[in-house]
Formats: sequence, structure tokens, C-alpha cells
Amino acid sequence: MSFHLQPATAPTAILSALAQEQHGLIDLLQQPRKLSHAGRDFWLGELHGQPVVLALSKIGKVAAATTATALIERLGVQRIVFTGVAGGLGEGVSVGDVVVATDFVQHDLDASPLFPRYEVPLYGRTRFQADAALTALLFKAACAALASEPSGGQEAGAVQSFPGARVHQGLIASGDRFVSGAEESRVLRDALMAAGHPVLAVEMEGAAVAQVCQDYGLPFAAVRTISDRADDSAHIDFPRFVDEVASRYARLMVEQFLKTL
Ligand code: ADE
Repeated sequence: MSFHLQPATAPTAILSALAQEQHGLIDLLQQPRKLSHAGRDFWLGELHGQPVVLALSKIGKVAAATTATALIERLGVQRIVFTGVAGGLGEGVSVGDVVVATDFVQHDLDASPLFPRYEVPLYGRTRFQADAALTALLFKAACAALASEPSGGQEAGAVQSFPGARVHQGLIASGDRFVSGAEESRVLRDALMAAGHPVLAVEMEGAAVAQVCQDYGLPFAAVRTISDRADDSAHIDFPRFVDEVASRYARLMVEQFLKTL
């Protein structure tokens, strides 16, 4: 079966890593239609009058690259936007804050001494940029989303609330590792910093999707809510945040974004 769409209706792909992050979006989808391909479900429909495909990247760089490739090759999407959660690495990047990516680095890529540490071999580059125009829209959407939460990230009756939550913009590091130790996260941050990469947050997919989008010449942008500080309590903070907060944040962010698209 071929899922190619007409170019005039080429949708925006909204990617999430986890089902919990996606639930709120599927609930909002108008005229939902599910297609299955490559072991993945793709939800087509409309959100705020825009054609969209909702998909799960799954977890890790390879899975995310496969999903991105399927979205481009089989579903003909015109842009990809990632909404998900990340561990805070930068100073002052706290749980409940939001990081909009300007660019991405793979923190676990090391082909030295053949290539400089972190450089993607045969690409001659270490970082992949997010699309500037999409990123500017996402930043505005993230600010509006947080402002729409009473008391800046606080919602009456919410299990977790984040008064004073902030929106940051900067470098996100991706790798095939859940970073869950204060010492581990310090070593990761310091090594990236020493190589000239001032990282704000760590996750497991963004740089892979950015590289695929670069290969295909497709705009990509990502917004990540901070679920944990990638420290000794990350394994407790992460699932709690994902279950209680991530879906609401994703919905708020995507709705604000699509309204301005
Ligand atoms: N996504 C959310 N928190 C993370 C962490 N601590 N490490 C990697 N990916 C994450």
C-alpha cells in the first residue's frame, strides 16, 4: 500500500518519543485516519485547520531516524516538529522549563582519532541546525503556552506545577543513553563545553531527526520540556513528569504553534 499524499496537502509531522506525550494530540485530531508502516502507526488528520501526521519516533537515534525517513519517504510530510521531554543539563535549566532547540549534537558520537570527537564522519560537521523560521514560531508558541498556564506554568488542580517556568533557546545533545546521574551529567556537560558546545538539555532522538531532515532538505524544529535534571533522581522524575505533565504541555505547545503556522 502506498501512503503518498498530494503535494498541496503535504502535512506537518508532529513527532513525539512516547505515547504519553502524544495522547493529548490524538484526542484533538479531526478526521483521524491511522496508517501503519515500518512497525509504526501514523495518525493523519487536521489540527486547527492544518493537515498533520502524528507519529511516535520511538526511543533512541536509530528508531527516530527510521520514523523520520518513513514520514518523508512514505507520507510526504513538508516539515517535522518534535515535541517531547529532555533532561536539563545547562545551568538554570529546571524541571518544568522548556528548551527550544537551535541546533543538535550527538554526545555519544566519537570516531576519534579519525575524526574530531562529536563530528559526524563524512558530513564534515558536528552540529545540525534547526530551521530558523520554524524555531522562531516554536519559541513564540512555547512562551504563549507557558503564559496560558495560570501563575506561569501552574494549573489549578495540576499534580505538578511550575511557577516561574522559563523558555530557553539553544543547543540540545542527543545520544543513546538515559542520563541519570549527577556525576555522569557533569562529565557529559563539561566535555561538550570544553569542545565548544554549550549544551542546555539532553535527550535521545533530536540530532538523528535533524540529520535525516538535513539529508532530505526538510525543515525541522524541536521543543522539549524539562522532565528531570539528568541527575541521581532522573529515573524517578522522568516517568512522573511523563505521566502527569508531558501530554498537557505537548498539546498546549502544538496548538499555539499550529495557530501561527
Ligand atoms: N529525556 C528526558 N530525560 C532524559 C535524560 N535524563 N536522559 C536522556 N534523555 C532524556
